[in-house]
Amino acid sequence: MKIGCPKEIKPQEFRVGVTPNAANEAVMHGHAVLVETGAGVGSGFTDEDYIAAGATIAGSAAEVFAAADMIVKVKEPQAAERKMLREGQILFTYLHLAPDPEQTADLLASGATCIAYETVTDAAGGLPLLAPMSEVAGKLAPQVGAWTLQKANGGRGVLLGGVPGVGPAQVVVIGGGVVGTNAARVAAGMGAEVTVLDRSLPRMRYLDDVFGGQFRTRYASAANTADLVAQADMVIGAVLIPGAAAPKLVSRAQLSTMKPGAAIVDVAIDQGGCFETSKATTHEDPIYEVDGIMHYCVANMPGAVARTSTIALGNATMPFLLALADKGWRKACEDDPHLLEGLNVHAGKLTSYPVGKALGIDVLSPSLALKA
Ligand SMILES: NC(=O)c1ccc[n+]([C@@H]2O[C@H](COP(=O)([O-])OP(=O)(O)OC[C@H]3O[C@@H](n4cnc5c(N)ncnc54)[C@H](O)[C@@H]3O)[C@@H](O)[C@H]2O)c1
Repeated sequence: MKIGCPKEIKPQEFRVGVTPNAANEAVMHGHAVLVETGAGVGSGFTDEDYIAAGATIAGSAAEVFAAADMIVKVKEPQAAERKMLREGQILFTYLHLAPDPEQTADLLASGATCIAYETVTDAAGGLPLLAPMSEVAGKLAPQVGAWTLQKANGGRGVLLGGVPGVGPAQVVVIGGGVVGTNAARVAAGMGAEVTVLDRSLPRMRYLDDVFGGQFRTRYASAANTADLVAQADMVIGAVLIPGAAAPKLVSRAQLSTMKPGAAIVDVAIDQGGCFETSKATTHEDPIYEVDGIMHYCVANMPGAVARTSTIALGNATMPFLLALADKGWRKACEDDPHLLEGLNVHAGKLTSYPVGKALGIDVLSPSLALKA
């Protein structure tokens, strides 16, 4: 199969869909890999790295789209890229179609077979191609929160780990899933006193078993949340209710109970955020203040560490990429029901029930699409 990897064109996107390592494995499986010149630069990979891995460099995205049987990207295809997709071509990338009728219409019109990273599942009920980005954002959260807490940035001027004779900062993490666990581990590692709030008892049991010595758990009742938020130097928002907007768990009125200059890092901002006062920000202008509380609400946190994020995403996508290339999409999806969950569009038909429901479009069942 000819695998094509264009350079990402969405503003502020520095990741790349195929790493040199993934290109190398694909070549070892007998496939050809065509990478647009400069595609890896934002993640620290040169054209020479790809050539050394056995890939070929193309001068333009148009060349990649024209030649490839399968396009592998990071972000959803932009309008100009969607025009270059064609019938029978495979597109493997993040799509997020439910809130995006224009993209959905273009993908349906293209006749391509589109597999979305974010809906591929695993045997444990997780989302294996989303988890690496949650791990990255979770580990970044205390790091950016520590920076936000610095006096010159408007923060309280508190060092997370304290020093001998001066106590550590209090960090509260709301939501103990992938983001929350990684955030709590890093904050505890930096020496902060950390409490994780969650509503899932099985999850808290797991956290307590595995990390009991490093941080505490508390049930996320409204009263516990209010108490802990009032004592915190940093609050990290990490809740998720799959398929729904994030619940607002801290109101504007509660900010007045917090310590002046405390930091809020709302990682759940990509689902609307779990603080009433959250609004999405960018890496260029990441923080703002409301009622004396500093807010960090960057919606694409992994972009700050594009190299780590690209490699983490590449590790997670590689087995699926190889299965699609080795077997073709039909056999790969037949053999792996978790990959089939990723099938969102095929030959002009929508094949994702949640997207169909969100956009009011008829859906062809993915298992029927396999036979179409
Ligand atoms: N900003 C970014 O760059 C970025 C990057 C990655 C992920 N995210 C977002 O971070 C959020 C968390 O993702 P995740 O992968 O950790 O999800 P997850 O499903 O692994 O974890 C969510 C946790 O929230 C808990 N929860 C749900 N409702 C709650 C409530 N009312 N109170 C307390 N806990 C509650 C769940 O029990 C679960 O443990 C998501 O919105 C995700 O989209 C943002």
